Amino acid sequence: MQKNIVITGGTSGIGLACAKYLIDNQYTVIITGRTELNLKNALKVLENKATGYISDTSSLEDIDILVEKIKIRFKKIDGLFINAGIFKAAGFEDTTENIFDQTMGINFKGAFFTIQKFIPILNNPSSIVLNTSIVVFKAFKNTSVYTASKAALESIAKVLNIELTQKGIRINIISPGVTESPIQKKSGMDDNAIDDLLRHFSETSPIGRILQPKDIAPILEFLLSKNSLVLRNEKIIVDGGTTL
Ligand SMILES: NC(=O)c1ccc[n+]([C@@H]2O[C@H](COP(=O)([O-])OP(=O)(O)OC[C@H]3O[C@@H](n4cnc5c(N)ncnc54)[C@H](OP(=O)(O)O)[C@@H]3O)[C@@H](O)[C@H]2O)c1
Repeated sequence: MQKNIVITGGTSGIGLACAKYLIDNQYTVIITGRTELNLKNALKVLENKATGYISDTSSLEDIDILVEKIKIRFKKIDGLFINAGIFKAAGFEDTTENIFDQTMGINFKGAFFTIQKFIPILNNPSSIVLNTSIVVFKAFKNTSVYTASKAALESIAKVLNIELTQKGIRINIISPGVTESPIQKKSGMDDNAIDDLLRHFSETSPIGRILQPKDIAPILEFLLSKNSLVLRNEKIIVDGGTTL
């Protein structure tokens, strides 16, 4: 039977590439995003083989509505990719309350309550995969709040693996390195800074190129599949070896 997988933030970059890969591998895919036009374009890219919902992951009300809609249409799901996220480049001294609240609100609070509210419709067994980042263990300037949001997200995986074990829910982590996606443009970095960043990670990477969103997809598929049934709180660093 086909497995139902929800990808939050599936309208762009890593989420969209993962949606495409899972569809090509016979999964039923449900994507979310907060921008109507981006959702429409993503569904077009996916040749309308996915179901899409507008849902702001930082709004608990939106998450409730999303879960209700998915419950009516699909009854239960087998996997949840906690992927929706933002990055705003800002030095520690320039980080405003707004950047702090937005980043924590989407990357951590939104992720936290998305997991909580999806529990009733997660099958036994099912798999939750958290998309964090290499920033959790390697320091990069201008990422203080982003780093905190991803470290907070990783920190709950252990606890949830203990609390949710009776429900057959396992939680694992993908920790991507710098991956070329629209996130860089949205970060507030100018084009030169983005070019420098991507060039640096291409030149210094053991794989000789910058990571692409589609590089993450087979790793996600493994963590969603029964091949990873015995893994709990495993973190797979997908960075082409840049942090070695
Ligand atoms: N690219 C990298 O270098 C990298 C490295 C490590 C980790 N990551 C993580 O990977 C994840 C995906 O990043 P990406 O590079 O693919 O970025 P992206 O292309 O900007 O995609 C981000 C996705 O998240 C969605 N999103 C953002 N805020 C949302 C909200 N409040 N509610 C619902 N959806 C929301 C976006 O939807 P809209 O278009 O509607 O806003 C979009 O679908 C993020 O969690 C990011 O932190 C990225």
